[in-house]
Amino acid sequence: TAQTGDLGDRGDLAGRIAQAAEVLRAGGLVAFPTETVYGLGANAEDPAAVGRIYQAKGRPPTHPLIVHLGSAEQLADWVEEVPETARLLAERFWPGPLTLVLRRAARVPLEATGGLETVAVRVPDHPVALALLEAFGGGVTAPSANRFGSVSPTTAEHVRTELGDAVDFVLDGGSCQVGVESTIVDVTGETPSILRPGGVTREDLEEALGYPIGEDGANHIRVPGQHPSHYAPRAKVVLVEPERIVAEAAAAQEQGHQVGVFLPPDYAEAPVKAYAVVEVPESMDAYARELYGFLRELDQLGCDLILASLPPERGLGVAIANRLRRAAGPRS
Ligand code: TXA
Ligand code: MG
Repeated sequence: TAQTGDLGDRGDLAGRIAQAAEVLRAGGLVAFPTETVYGLGANAEDPAAVGRIYQAKGRPPTHPLIVHLGSAEQLADWVEEVPETARLLAERFWPGPLTLVLRRAARVPLEATGGLETVAVRVPDHPVALALLEAFGGGVTAPSANRFGSVSPTTAEHVRTELGDAVDFVLDGGSCQVGVESTIVDVTGETPSILRPGGVTREDLEEALGYPIGEDGANHIRVPGQHPSHYAPRAKVVLVEPERIVAEAAAAQEQGHQVGVFLPPDYAEAPVKAYAVVEVPESMDAYARELYGFLRELDQLGCDLILASLPPERGLGVAIANRLRRAAGPRS
C-alpha cells in the first residue's frame, strides 16, 4: 500500500523527504508537490523506474516527461548545450513554473523523452520539491500525478484518490500555489516558442527576452502529450459565453442534466438554476489555483455537465483558457 508519509509525523518533514529520496533511489515512484501541480516522480536515469510512471498513469510511452532539477546550475549536465536564451530564461524564472525544451545529453534515457532527441527540464519553486531533489541528488522525471487525460492534482489527497497503490510514496506539501502546469518553451530553435501556456505568462517571457515571441504552438499538436482532450473531468464540459451561462444552465437542468456552473465574477449575484455552482474568482492567480479543484469538486458532487466561460486571454488567463478548452475538447 502507498506510504503516505504524513500520518502523525508532519513535524518530521526532513525524515519524510529522506525516505522519499530513498524510494527514488530504489527505483520507486514518489508523488511530490510543486508550485504548479503534484508530480509523479522517478529517477530520470533509471529506465525501468521511468517505465513505471507510464504504467501508473496509463500514459502512452511516446509522451515525453519533464526532468526536474534542484538548481539551474545542473542544467548543463542534462542537455547537449545551454543556448544563451535558455541561460537567460533559467536565470530569470528558476526556480519557477517554466519548462525549457533543449537537446538532450546522453545521460537522459529515451524512455524519459518519449524517444525524442530533446528533453524538457525545469527547477520547481516549492521548498519540499527542492529539498527532495537535493536529498536525491539527481534528476527526477515527473509528469503530473494524475491518470492520463484527467485533471491534474493540486493536493496530496487528489493524488491518493486517483493513483492509490500505484504510487510508492506520497509526499504531502499542502496545496499548490500556482495551480496550473508550467509554461513550456522550446529553446532549440532560432527563436523561442511557447509549446504550452502555463504559470509564467507570455508577457513575463517577452519582458525578460526584450522581444516578442512568435505565434505559439500551444493550440496545435506539436508533440505527443498535447492532445485536444486533456485535463478533463468525468463530466462533459461545455464552454458558453458568460452572458448566456445562467440561461443555458437552467435549460440544461430542465432537460434533466445535473449541471455544474462556473459562475463568472460579473454574474456572482445572479440567481442560478443548477445542480452545483462554483464562483470563479476575479483574480486570475486565484482562478488558476482553484481551477482543477473546481473541476474535481463538480465531478465529486455528481454533475454530468459543466458549463464554463473562457476568461480574458491575457496573462495567466491564457493558460486557464487553454485548460478549459482542452477539458471541453473531443474525448477519444
Ligand atoms: O508544471 C508542470 O510542468 C508539471 C509539474 C509536475 O512539474 N508537470 C507536467 O508534466 O505538467 P506533464 O507530463 O503532465 O506534461 C509535460 C508535457 C508533455 O505533455 C509534453 O507535451 C511536454 O511536456 N514535453 C516534455 N518533453 C518534451 C519535449 N522534449 N519536447 C516538447 N514537449 C515536451
Ligand atoms: Mg499532465
